[in-house]
Amino acid sequence: MTAFEEYIVSHRSDFESRLFDVLKIPSISADPARRADMKRTAEWFRHQFAAVGLQTEIIETEGHPLVFAEYVPDTEPAPSAPTILVYGHYDVQPPDPLELWHSPPFEPTVRGGNVYARGATDDKGQFLTHLFAVESLLKTGSAAQRNFRVKFIAEGEEEVGSQALEKFLRTPEGQKKLACDCILVSDTSQFAAGQPTITYGLRGILAAELFLTGPNRDLHSGTFGGSVFNPAVALTKILSQLTDADGIVRIPGFYDDVIPLTDRERQQFAALPFDEKEFLAKIGLQTGFGETGYSLNERRWGRPTFDINGITAGYQGEGSKTIIPSKASAKFTCRLVPNQDPVKIAESVKTLIGKLVPPGITWELSVQHGAAGMSLNLDQSRFVAPLSQALETTFGKKTVFIREGGSIPIVADFHHVLNADVLLVGWGQDDDALHSPNEKFSLESFYNGILASARFFHCFFGASAHGCGMS
Ligand code: BES
Ligand code: ZN
Repeated sequence: MTAFEEYIVSHRSDFESRLFDVLKIPSISADPARRADMKRTAEWFRHQFAAVGLQTEIIETEGHPLVFAEYVPDTEPAPSAPTILVYGHYDVQPPDPLELWHSPPFEPTVRGGNVYARGATDDKGQFLTHLFAVESLLKTGSAAQRNFRVKFIAEGEEEVGSQALEKFLRTPEGQKKLACDCILVSDTSQFAAGQPTITYGLRGILAAELFLTGPNRDLHSGTFGGSVFNPAVALTKILSQLTDADGIVRIPGFYDDVIPLTDRERQQFAALPFDEKEFLAKIGLQTGFGETGYSLNERRWGRPTFDINGITAGYQGEGSKTIIPSKASAKFTCRLVPNQDPVKIAESVKTLIGKLVPPGITWELSVQHGAAGMSLNLDQSRFVAPLSQALETTFGKKTVFIREGGSIPIVADFHHVLNADVLLVGWGQDDDALHSPNEKFSLESFYNGILASARFFHCFFGASAHGCGMS
C-alpha cells in the first residue's frame, strides 16, 4: 500500500467526523434567514483547504460567497502538467417536510453504514472526497514529484441557479483564477452501488413561477361563484394545457432545437444492467410514464420535460372553506436537453400563457433561472483513461458511461468558457434521497470516493506523469 493509501485508511474516522461537522450547518441557499450559516459554511471549507496547505480565498459576491483554493508548490511542475479544477457546492436544498425525517436534517446520524443529513450526498460529502484525497497526497510528502496543479472552487448557489459563480466566470479575474485543463465534479450518482460511473451529459433547466390574481380578496363561493373566474381553476386549466397525455410538451417550438439521442447512445443505455420494475418499485411505483418510443433511461437522461414543482391556491387548512381564492400560483421547471435555449423557451412559455389566461385574471410570470444542458464528447479526453483506471482499481469493475437527468447549472458554462474537459464522477446512489427527507450518503462510498480520487491524482505523480493509462 502506498503512503497516501495508508493515510486514507488510518484517517477514515477523522474524515467522517469532519464531514459530520459541516453537515451540522444549515446552509440553505434559498432561505434568506440562513445567510450567516452560508458564510459560516464557506469559512469552514476555507479553513479545511488552508489546513492542507492550500492558498485560499473567500470571494464575496452579490449572493453567497465563493471559496477558492489552490496549491502553489515550491517547485513548479512541468509546463505541460495539467491543471485540475475541482468544483462542488456547499449549499443545500431546504429540508422540508421536516416531520418525515427519522433524525433531524442537520444532526448527522449514522444508520446502517449511511450518514443521514441534508447535504450528505448533495454535495458536501461528495465534494469533500477530493479535498481529503488531496490532503492524503500532500500530507504524505508526495508533493515534490507531483505533476499537476490543483484548484478548488466551491459555490453556495448551485441549488438556486449558480448566478454568482456564472457572473464571476464572465470576468477576466474569474477566468484567470479558474483556468484549467479539466474540471472534476462529484455531484452525481453511480449507475448502481459500487459501479464506477462517468456521467457525460446533464439536462439543463428553466425554472419559473406563474402568479394569477382574480378578485381583490377571497370571495364567498356562493355569493360570487359562477359569476367571476376563479384563479385556482384558471391555473389548473392553463397548466393542463402545457403537456399532453404522455408528457409531450405543448409549448410552441419546444422541440425545435432538441438534439436527439444517437443510435450509439441508445445502444449503450440499453446494454446497461437495468431492471425497470425494480427501479420503479424503489420509489413505490409499478408503472412509469413518458413519451412513447423511449425507454425509462432515455426519457430521464435524454428527453426534455415540463413539471410542476408546487401549486398554491386557496384554503389549505383543516375542513372545508367555501371561497373563491383571490390568488393562485405555481412553480414549474422544464428540464432541457443539449441545444435547447432556456431564454428562447422562457419567451415561448410566456407567449403561450398570455394566450391561455382567461378574462378577469391578471398574471405575472417570474423566470427564476435557466441553464443549458450538455453532452460531452469524452472520446478525446486524455483524463478519461486515468480516471477510469482509478475507479476500476477502487471498485473492481469496469466504468460505465451514462447521462444524468438532473442539472448542475455551471457545468456547461465551465466547459465553454474555460474550454476544459468536465469529468462528472459521482459517488452517490440513486436512493440517496437528494432533495427529499432522509437524504443519506453511504460511508463506504465516501471512503471509496476519497481513495479513487487520490488514485486519480496520483496518476500525475512522477517526472513523466504517464501513469494510469495516459498516453
Ligand atoms: N446534485 C444535483 C444534480 C443531480 C441530480 C445529480 C440528480 C444526480 C442526480 C444538483 O445539486 C442539483 O440538484 N441541481 C439542481 C439544479 C437546479 C436547482 C438549478 C437540480 O437539478 O434540480
Ligand atoms: Zn441538489
